[in-house]
Amino acid sequence: MENFSFHNPTRLHFGRGQIAALDRELPADARVLLLAGGGSIKKNGVYEQVKKALGPRTVVEFFGVEANPDFDTLMQAVKLARQKNVTWVLPVGGGSVLDGAKLVAAAIKYAGDAWDIPAKRMSKLPHALPIGAVLTLPATGSESNGAAVISRRATKQKLAFISPDVFPRFSILDPETTFSLPERQVANGIGDAFAHVIEQYLTYPADAALQDRFAEGILRTLIETGPTTLANPTDYNARANLVWAATWALNGWIGVGVPQDWATHMIGHELTALHEIDHARTLAIVLPSLMHVQRQGKREKLLQYAARVWDLTAGSEDERIDAAIARTRDFYESLGIKTRLSDYHVPADTAAEVARRLKAHGMAKLGERGDITPEVVEKILRAAA
Ligand code: NZQ
Ligand code: ZN
Repeated sequence: MENFSFHNPTRLHFGRGQIAALDRELPADARVLLLAGGGSIKKNGVYEQVKKALGPRTVVEFFGVEANPDFDTLMQAVKLARQKNVTWVLPVGGGSVLDGAKLVAAAIKYAGDAWDIPAKRMSKLPHALPIGAVLTLPATGSESNGAAVISRRATKQKLAFISPDVFPRFSILDPETTFSLPERQVANGIGDAFAHVIEQYLTYPADAALQDRFAEGILRTLIETGPTTLANPTDYNARANLVWAATWALNGWIGVGVPQDWATHMIGHELTALHEIDHARTLAIVLPSLMHVQRQGKREKLLQYAARVWDLTAGSEDERIDAAIARTRDFYESLGIKTRLSDYHVPADTAAEVARRLKAHGMAKLGERGDITPEVVEKILRAAA
């Protein structure tokens, strides 16, 4: 196991009715920027619950953060926050709203060009305003991590930054707030969380027994709970297990002391930037193909994944690996998520363009061994055609 230092500072309030905890968490004199997306929170009762819990506090509202939050939109929120002297940022929504809030919180007191934050992957953001989050979509783990992914449609870019200074101070996870999600978003959430675990698990053995067992436990929970919660969206316990699994997939715990990959995500971000494909769907395209192309370097963990996650123990090593990759693809397809580039009408020259863009963004050596070069990225995407 590699050395690590770990701290996750987010206090979580999980369960029915927990939005009321906002009143305990936020100072009475907080001036709150309520950040939201396209309006789902006004249709499912979440907005009313939040307003009630905030009571007499000063609240400045900013709606309109889009899926894959756009830099230019977020800068409008920053402008408003500065005018109104807000002291807390309160995203209410999915990962896009939460990620957007992290950029907004970091940018309000940042004197330079705020695009530097993702473009230069700034990790020291000591002037960031405190964030408290109400999560309505289990998927990204943004409710309990320091990561944010920001899109800039004007330049077709989608870049991430990670900083300990933008962890939410607290997050509220009420599974009932997710009952209103369309099937497509629930499926996306399952598929995204699954990939988050794989990125931290399917590398090479690091003799990290507990991290491996946790990772396998999350994967198996997603495989079991995913179809149940898709079929019965208002089954509280099934949804609660999905919400908790998605948080665990990317709250940092399973990633301590182990090598990590993240190439699937970096390639996926470019596909979203170029073709506006949902985040989780880009992962479903890339992941099975990446497993296949990288099967030599990932051999031992692929065999462990086959045995412990899919109970595949018969046949030769290559047969077990092939079967595990096929199970992975089938799992995404069973969620209603297509796994081929052609399913999304993406032109063939995209493989070269994604490889070129990753290189331009300083990502020419991806993967746990740095061996996913632009040439390998192209190979992975051609195999995903
Ligand atoms: O905008 P509204 O009206 O709220 O509608 C949203 C949006 O259209 C809707 N929605 C959310 N909660 C709902 C709901 N509809 C009905 N009922 C509810 N309870 O769902 C749509 C998608 O929302 P979005 O926030 O975009 O989805 P998600 O949570 O999947 O977030 C995706 C973003 O997170 C980034 C992705 O790249 C993408 O930009 N990621 C962030 C990560 C992180 N911070 O650690 C890691 C991930 O790998 C990922 O990259
Ligand atoms: Zn993701």
